[in-house]
Amino acid sequence: MREDRPSETAAIVAVMRGLAPWLPEGGQLAEDPYGLRFARPWMRPLLKLPRRMLLSRGMLARLALWMQLRTRALDDYVKAFRGQVVLLGAGFDCRALRLPGKVFFEVDHPATQRRKRAVVGTPEGVQFVSWNFESQPMSELPAKLASLGHVAARPTLTIWEGVTPFLSEAAIAASVAAVRVWSSPGSQLAFTYIERRAQTPFQQALVALVGEPWRFGWHPDELPAWMAAHGMKLLSDESDAELAARLLPPSLAARLRLPGRHVALAEPA
Ligand SMILES: C[S@@+](CC[C@H](N)C(=O)[O-])C[C@H]1O[C@@H](n2cnc3c(N)ncnc32)[C@H](O)[C@@H]1O
Repeated sequence: MREDRPSETAAIVAVMRGLAPWLPEGGQLAEDPYGLRFARPWMRPLLKLPRRMLLSRGMLARLALWMQLRTRALDDYVKAFRGQVVLLGAGFDCRALRLPGKVFFEVDHPATQRRKRAVVGTPEGVQFVSWNFESQPMSELPAKLASLGHVAARPTLTIWEGVTPFLSEAAIAASVAAVRVWSSPGSQLAFTYIERRAQTPFQQALVALVGEPWRFGWHPDELPAWMAAHGMKLLSDESDAELAARLLPPSLAARLRLPGRHVALAEPA
């Protein structure tokens, strides 16, 4: 991503989450009253159009539905978890505000985090850590978290949502190694990924246009072994279609058509 600018994709997914109330009935799986606050100036003309119409069909509808699925699946993990939460690549994720009552550590790129804090301030129970996953040593992140009150001896849920496509494989491996260090028994890593084969040239071009090209994606068949080789045990891996079948009414599940997206859960091996 661009060094000096907040993440555009973080703004896009936050706004998509914020548009949930305008999705067709049955599509609202996770409320995010903060999402639209992160709209960038270039989105405003689009947001002035009738929102129900905007989200009835087409690419935006699919994206908004996928955001509901992944947000809800991860929200459920947060709600079920007793312990601290680390948001790795937090972006404009407002779970600390939406699901209060836990200690949150939000780790993100400095420019993105500055914008987040300018919009929502410092919510109670949140510690912010500015970190570039590509250029700063991930091996030093556990100590940084500890200096801010993270207790590695207690279980941690790490949420890594919408981040893996944007990192190099080296940064992915270093991130998982760091998660391993701060994850005592009972900890979990919940993450999303987009299969490499589903990263179409059209979608690639769109993310490259905003300066955040996709760089990585597992194949679901290789994920368990990859995780095992990095000290983690894969507990579950749900595809877009499986999540849609579980959480959406059939009429909306049929509209998703955004294949190759996954929400997965792992624990220290
Ligand atoms: C698509 S956004 C997802 C944000 C958030 N997790 C969510 O789902 O709303 C990708 C996030 O990854 C972060 N990111 C990408 N590359 C990064 C890097 N090299 N170092 C730190 N953060 C990075 C961006 O700042 C951004 O917040």
